[in-house]
This record gives sequence, C-alpha cells and structure tokens, in this order.
Amino acid sequence: MVPFCFMTVTASGLLISFAAMRILMVCLGNICRSPMAEGILRHKVKEHGLDWVVDSAGTESYHVGEAPHKFSQNICRVHGIDISDQRARKFVAADFAKYDKIYAMAADVYDEIDGIGGRHADMNKVDYFLNELPDNTIKNASVPDPYYGGESGFTEVYEMIDKICDAIIDRYKKDNYV
Ligand code: 4NP
Repeated sequence: MVPFCFMTVTASGLLISFAAMRILMVCLGNICRSPMAEGILRHKVKEHGLDWVVDSAGTESYHVGEAPHKFSQNICRVHGIDISDQRARKFVAADFAKYDKIYAMAADVYDEIDGIGGRHADMNKVDYFLNELPDNTIKNASVPDPYYGGESGFTEVYEMIDKICDAIIDRYKKDNYV
C-alpha cells in the first residue's frame, strides 16, 4: 500500500505516477545503528529534495525514550547531521501498515521483526539493510553492533550506513519515488 501516490502529465502527454517512500530503520536498542541510519537518510532525502518519510525503531525496549548513543550523535555531528532530538521507540506490529520498506540491521533483528509483527507481519516489506550495498555478494549480512566497543566502531558503522543510504536514494529515486 502506497498512500501518498499522485500522478502528473508531462509536456508530451505522458502520465507518470509518483509515490512518497516511507522507510523504517530497525536495530535492537534504537540508540546506535538505526538512529544513525534515520538521521543520515533523512539528511540525504532533504538534499535530494525528496518528500520521503524516514523513521527508526528497536526490537527491544531497554532504551525507549532515550536519545541516540553519544558516539552515534558525535559521528553524525562531525558530518553536519544533528540527531540529538531523536528518541528511541520499540518496533510495533502496526509499523507494517505505516511503512513501505523496513530495513533490519541484523539477523536477530530480522527475526524479531517477524515475531513482533505476528499476523500483521508482511515480510515482503522487510530486507536486510546491507542487502542494499552496491555490488553486494554476501546476502543477509548484519551491520556490526558498535554498542559493546569504542568510538572507532561507530565511525566504521557510520561509513557503512552512509554508503548504503546513497544506494537507497539511487534505487528508489529511479523508481519514481518522490
Ligand atoms: P543498537 O545497539 O541495536 O544498534 O541500538 C544496541 C544498543 C543497546 C543494546 C544492544 C545493542 N543493549 O543491550 O542495551
């Protein structure tokens, strides 16, 4: 279901339909990986003049209501992206109806999305985030969880997420998502 769909007629009389894309990034705690992905993709969406909805959530509730991890905030700030206003929330079954594309940061997260969704789970909407990597040869790989390491892990994960967000923009912009 794509609710924000509209049509336009080109100068040559061609009817083209456009749709806004609604993307949800999901990790475990919603304080390290998915808030970075939300902030980075939102930033790029704005730069490209797109009108997409971008959000993030976690499959666990340990950090609900918290701001992103300070190292996630730091590395985003270095790149001119302020994610300090984002707050962690838990992924819920109703998210399946609200989003067109749901990206799981890791294999355990993918399984939990299915479990939480229950009878509402539409796994056709769900993919591993790393599967969007251009020239990807390894399927269904996980974004490393930087939570248990130092600040450099967050820098590595930032670079990975940044590249994939570019690929997501390229892919769906071509498909007439505005
Ligand atoms: P995230 O990282 O899923 O990328 O937000 C984690 C954050 C918190 C925990 C684990 C991973 N935790 O166990 O509290």
